[in-house]
Amino acid sequence: MKNTAFINDKIKKFDKQIYVPGDKSLSIRWILMASQAIGKSVAYNILKSEDIISALNVIKKLGVSYKINNKYCEINGKGLGGFNFKNNTIINAGNSGTLARLIFGLLINSKNQIVLEGDKSLSKRDFSRVIKPMRMFGQNIYSKKNKLPIKIKGTNYPRPINFIEQKGSAQVKSCILFSAMKTPGLTSIKCVPSRDHTEKLFKYLNLPIKITKKKNYQLIKYFGKKNYKGFNYNIPGDISSSAFFIVLTLLSKNSKIIIKNVAVNKSRTGIIDVLKNMNAKIILKNKRIYKGEDIADIFVKYSENLKSINCPSNMNSRSIDEFLLIFLVCAVSKGVSKFKKIGELRNKETDRLKFANYFLKKIGIKTVETRDSIKIYGNPNLKLTKKYEIKNFDKDHRACMLSFIAALALGGRWIIRDTNSINTSFPNFVSLLKKIGANIN
Ligand code: S3P
Repeated sequence: MKNTAFINDKIKKFDKQIYVPGDKSLSIRWILMASQAIGKSVAYNILKSEDIISALNVIKKLGVSYKINNKYCEINGKGLGGFNFKNNTIINAGNSGTLARLIFGLLINSKNQIVLEGDKSLSKRDFSRVIKPMRMFGQNIYSKKNKLPIKIKGTNYPRPINFIEQKGSAQVKSCILFSAMKTPGLTSIKCVPSRDHTEKLFKYLNLPIKITKKKNYQLIKYFGKKNYKGFNYNIPGDISSSAFFIVLTLLSKNSKIIIKNVAVNKSRTGIIDVLKNMNAKIILKNKRIYKGEDIADIFVKYSENLKSINCPSNMNSRSIDEFLLIFLVCAVSKGVSKFKKIGELRNKETDRLKFANYFLKKIGIKTVETRDSIKIYGNPNLKLTKKYEIKNFDKDHRACMLSFIAALALGGRWIIRDTNSINTSFPNFVSLLKKIGANIN
């Protein structure tokens, strides 16, 4: 398949209505939760990307069957003790950090050993964040330097834990909750707030979870083992995929877009709050609640007079996957934007803080980077005319898609390599861009 894109023209004014594919975090969670339910679960509008295929392959290797077609995905779970696999079964999480971290939790009581592998980018990432709590539960874990491949063997006698989660990582929190689901007794997590799809699913399924909100943290308690029945889910659009179209519209003269049926969970909408603060014209309409998740249609208009932001760090976890796009908006906004305590960006599919600096400098924007902060000196008159080539950044899908948005919004002649990486999260990204008028070869 073609792995390079060429863009030589800015996108022309557009006024469109689109749907983006199903939310990735919810799709992965639905698959993993359905694999532990008793009986049949069905999901509609599940994301069909490589991360999701990896998740389905993983549950299949662990003995849970599924069926997927154009209309729905069906999983036939056998309850909390339903995994059934041979010793030393190899499972591969591909590029998905979320799948790789969450699956530890579901393997807390596995009798046989599992070997967890991932692709080159995932194999560079650190797993100590889940290894630590899982060892406290009693899981046996063998790894070199906390990196994949990792051998995992469960325990017959998991112990409930009290854990303090300070990174604001939903993957760590969800891994612990998945393990608590199979552990008798009271597990508690004191954590910095992060995306809460797992908690919302637990509540929807009437599982014994209790959440207390304190000033700067949350206390989550989970009370022992409880089986649940299969459940259906209509997965709403992904805000992280919508974000590319939000930013393209904001930066494209006289353009407008409506993105229909998007999950706008408050723990994920940092990008909307940050951009609105910078004078972006974004409105959420038709708000409703589906199985505990907030859903809305997102209306966006081209926005002039964008201004810089001194971003409060309580936005960090709420915008974690959207910072590259936010930085691009800062690049064309008036003033100096500042972001602090964003070191977690260095632990994503690639070091996204390093990529951001490289990318912004390449398009002529001054930046100052420290270990966990960045300052961006915006230029509202920025016009790109040169040739820009973006190569492999650990095949990070979001770094790759950012390059498309910069090219289409700001001009210049672009060669974007490793476009296959986009299949990780948003396989129809390029066709959707073409649908709203982009000229991409
Ligand atoms: C995710 C959590 C975030 C996010 C990732 C998806 C999830 O990671 O970056 O893309 O679905 O739980 P962290 O938990 O490491 O912040």
